[in-house]
Amino acid sequence: MRYNWTNLNFLIKAFLIFFLITSSISVTFAQKDRSLALTPPMGWNSWNSFGPRINEEMIKQMVDSMVSTGMKDAGYVYFVIDDCWLARDRDSQGNLQADPTKFPHGMKAIGDYVHSKGLKFGMYNCAGTMTCADFPGTRGHEYQDALYYASCGVDYLKFDWCNSDGINAKEAYSTMSKALTATKRPIVFSICEWGENKPWEWAEPIGHLWRTTTDISKNWSKGINKGTWSTQSILEILDKEAELRKYAGPGHWNDPDMLEVGKGLPVNEDRAHFTLWSMLAAPLIAGNDLRKMSRQTTNILTNKDVIAVNQDSIGIQALRYERKDSVETWVKPLKGGDWAVCFLNRSLVTKTIAFDWTANIVKDDLINKELNCGTKTYSIVDLWTKKVLGSTQKVLKANVPSHDVLIVRLVAPQQKSIKKQKKN
Ligand code: GLA
Repeated sequence: MRYNWTNLNFLIKAFLIFFLITSSISVTFAQKDRSLALTPPMGWNSWNSFGPRINEEMIKQMVDSMVSTGMKDAGYVYFVIDDCWLARDRDSQGNLQADPTKFPHGMKAIGDYVHSKGLKFGMYNCAGTMTCADFPGTRGHEYQDALYYASCGVDYLKFDWCNSDGINAKEAYSTMSKALTATKRPIVFSICEWGENKPWEWAEPIGHLWRTTTDISKNWSKGINKGTWSTQSILEILDKEAELRKYAGPGHWNDPDMLEVGKGLPVNEDRAHFTLWSMLAAPLIAGNDLRKMSRQTTNILTNKDVIAVNQDSIGIQALRYERKDSVETWVKPLKGGDWAVCFLNRSLVTKTIAFDWTANIVKDDLINKELNCGTKTYSIVDLWTKKVLGSTQKVLKANVPSHDVLIVRLVAPQQKSIKKQKKN
């Protein structure tokens, strides 16, 4: 082929067109910060215990308690103020403003206080015209509000879905995601759309976590009918999550809503709820009054071995392997070849389990992994009692009380040959 000016012009034009198309594509899709929430976010949120009853003084006490109770050391870093922090109206420039009675020094002062304790700051608003408690919503103010959050030092935004009639969910959350990215501040984007428009199918490039159901309540098997909507119980949410495991992974998590631990459920249900959320690779956002936390609640929320299952870096949501006689077996592959296995007793009576490891070959087609205890022997550690329960060569026999769990970690045999090779 002979190159002449006409050919060269053509090539330059083609290159320019290619460049414009690819750069516009990357602008259109340049949305969330992909370096965030590589493990499920952990933190605390004001809504479940306090609703509208929040103010500067109690929020600061809660921040202090997040540190003094050991919650921060256990990994809970996002301190999130939910609905009802706002004044009833925007200011004359259309900016959001804090309720002057509840937060007389404004939200940046709160953000500074949170940061001074080594925590990260989260706030709340809504994609609709008003929040669920009828404070100014974000619709039409996305870029302006994103700048406001960045100016307050926000690291996490929970974005709700009330008063959103006629709004396209994907479009609305996408706009806010772009507005947050435009601030250049790393902000975890928590989509709280209650699963109405199946965010798991479209929100991976947009947000870091998405609610899958309406609000959780302090119930084991059945939520509460509120007239136009119903809350969800622990088991109802669990069943919903089971269908969605393929959508979760590092940077994009199914969110089965915040923890009810320490809010009055019996201890076995608290323990089961926390364990199941950990198995689900769910965000662990506590909602109890940290100033009045019992030893029992602290022990549950800060169990580092169960948290390690939740925070495992390969980020795989557990698979429901078996359901038999009200007992479920959930299995979660972990980094380095270990597995977490959780036996859940949904019933009202104690159940005796007898799990034959070698007879149960668990095939996880989603990630192409297999738990085969016929070819590999694992040692078994109970993550609540910390006891070693022998190895997978023997049938595991245990009593699981009503509404409770047994969670074990199967510790893979050391790969001696690999270690030796590395030494040489
Ligand atoms: C919705 C959300 C809750 C909470 C309230 C606040 O119901 O799902 O988590 O944020 O709004 O009004």
